[in-house]
Amino acid sequence: MNRYYITTAIPYANSAPHIGHALELTGADVAARAKRMLGYDVYFQTGTDEHGQKMLESAAKAGRSVREFADEIVPRFAGLWRELEISFDNFVRTTDPRHAAGVTKFWNAVRENGDIYLGRYEGWYSVSEEVFHLESQAQTAPDGRKLSPETGEELVWKSENSYFFRWSRYNDALTNFVRANPAFIAPAFRANEMVNTFLKPGLQDISISRTSIQWGIPVPGDALHVIYVWFDALINYITGAGYGSDVERFAQWWPADMHVVGKDILKFHTLLWPAMLMSAGLDPPRRVFGHGFVNTRVSAVDGFEKMSKSKGNVVDPHALIARFGGNPDPLRYFLMREIDFGQDGAYSPEAMTARYNADLANTLGNLLARTLTMVEKYQDGIVAPPGAYCARDEAVISALIAPFQKSPNGNSVYEEMIDNFRFNTLLADIWTGVSRLNGYITEQQPFKLANDAARKDRLATVLYILCEGLRVIAAQIAPFIPRTAAAIWTQLGVAEPFDSVPFERLSQWGFLRDARVQRGENLFPKI
Ligand code: MSP
Repeated sequence: MNRYYITTAIPYANSAPHIGHALELTGADVAARAKRMLGYDVYFQTGTDEHGQKMLESAAKAGRSVREFADEIVPRFAGLWRELEISFDNFVRTTDPRHAAGVTKFWNAVRENGDIYLGRYEGWYSVSEEVFHLESQAQTAPDGRKLSPETGEELVWKSENSYFFRWSRYNDALTNFVRANPAFIAPAFRANEMVNTFLKPGLQDISISRTSIQWGIPVPGDALHVIYVWFDALINYITGAGYGSDVERFAQWWPADMHVVGKDILKFHTLLWPAMLMSAGLDPPRRVFGHGFVNTRVSAVDGFEKMSKSKGNVVDPHALIARFGGNPDPLRYFLMREIDFGQDGAYSPEAMTARYNADLANTLGNLLARTLTMVEKYQDGIVAPPGAYCARDEAVISALIAPFQKSPNGNSVYEEMIDNFRFNTLLADIWTGVSRLNGYITEQQPFKLANDAARKDRLATVLYILCEGLRVIAAQIAPFIPRTAAAIWTQLGVAEPFDSVPFERLSQWGFLRDARVQRGENLFPKI
């Protein structure tokens, strides 16, 4: 069986999860669920990043030890992922001793390869980004303070002994690797950014230890230093797959097929991480997808801007799930449909309500309710077998199963879109099918057919197309809105559990046979 190992970034456990994290996890979850549906053996990993100065400072502000502080925040992430029905298989905490053992092993491998040396680091440091900025890149405020070119936050001068990783040594290898693997960095325009901004000017060696703090994994053989948070966090992708603890499991899952991360940390994932792996004698990941940011509305006048705690515009996903009675699907649908995953997008309560009412309540919910009502009223709840299809029927059917058809490269169109994270386009295509079914009701007028005993067979055909059409749609939406898909499946009276049906049958027209529908609650009560 083909396998698929997919990861998300591991968020800093220094504040509650927000809608940006929810976007990333939902996107990765859609891919993970879709790949499972397509027959892959999937391993899906997320976790939390719990070391470093940022964690120390946040814990101190909260008046807690870092350990206690992390232990309070981490369940908020894991809990939110459960509410959002994120189907992760593993959750790595960087404070887990098994992770630390893997990081130690990795450090030793890189050192043995001659890529770690002791030097001295001086420079302008950004606590919130956990990075040094070059003197030449730091901005200077009118009062002389140095500010981060990325966040505008005040930088602090740091001078300390530090171990360095010979990143510069991998500039050519990385350049060749990126050139030889054009799909490695996605979307493609981000690959150009990485090459032009970092590889062409040339990478500098990077400081990978700190003596100023003690919250981290100790440097092997020099306990005065702790390992710099990125040289610890990135390694979660292998420790979580068995590196340093389970040779067989590691051989099964590495290299990862997909790292899903935000555009702001693409450099660490596409340039630093592969260089670290090359140095340790391991394969780089197969692909890294850099998604865009979710911005939130400040006011109707100001438009949209970046979320941040200081601006007080951070959106809590938990509230957006609670608003729909604990159903995560409206939020999942909104994030995947409204935002082009590779680009920045925006959240506003109005946009979410509009999507919910138009696409979910009026289009999909309504179609299911109307269809099942007719099957109950005219056929005692039985989905009778269809008669011969006319040209109109054939056109509707082929439009519905179009996403499941083969694309020129041999995979389904569906898989192709999933592999490229074209979630909003795929959903738009699926909804074209949903709308066609609504149009088909208007056009075929089953309520009129029902008045004419001589047209009983035609009525059965029309209702079959509606029910089987909804059955196909349930499969297509399952990775995106699994709870809704399961409800449609059940209401259509399908006995076989969704997960047990192989994709070959799932994707074929004609699956429904002699089902007895069970109309349930309205999927999406209007708001
Ligand atoms: N701890 C590091 C990642 C280490 S991975 C080995 C980190 N944490 S973070 O909490 O700042 O961000 C976690 C993820 O959320 C990143 O992929 C980041 O890009 C993403 N997002 C943070 N804010 C976001 C938005 N407003 N919108 C979308 N994603 C955003 O970086």
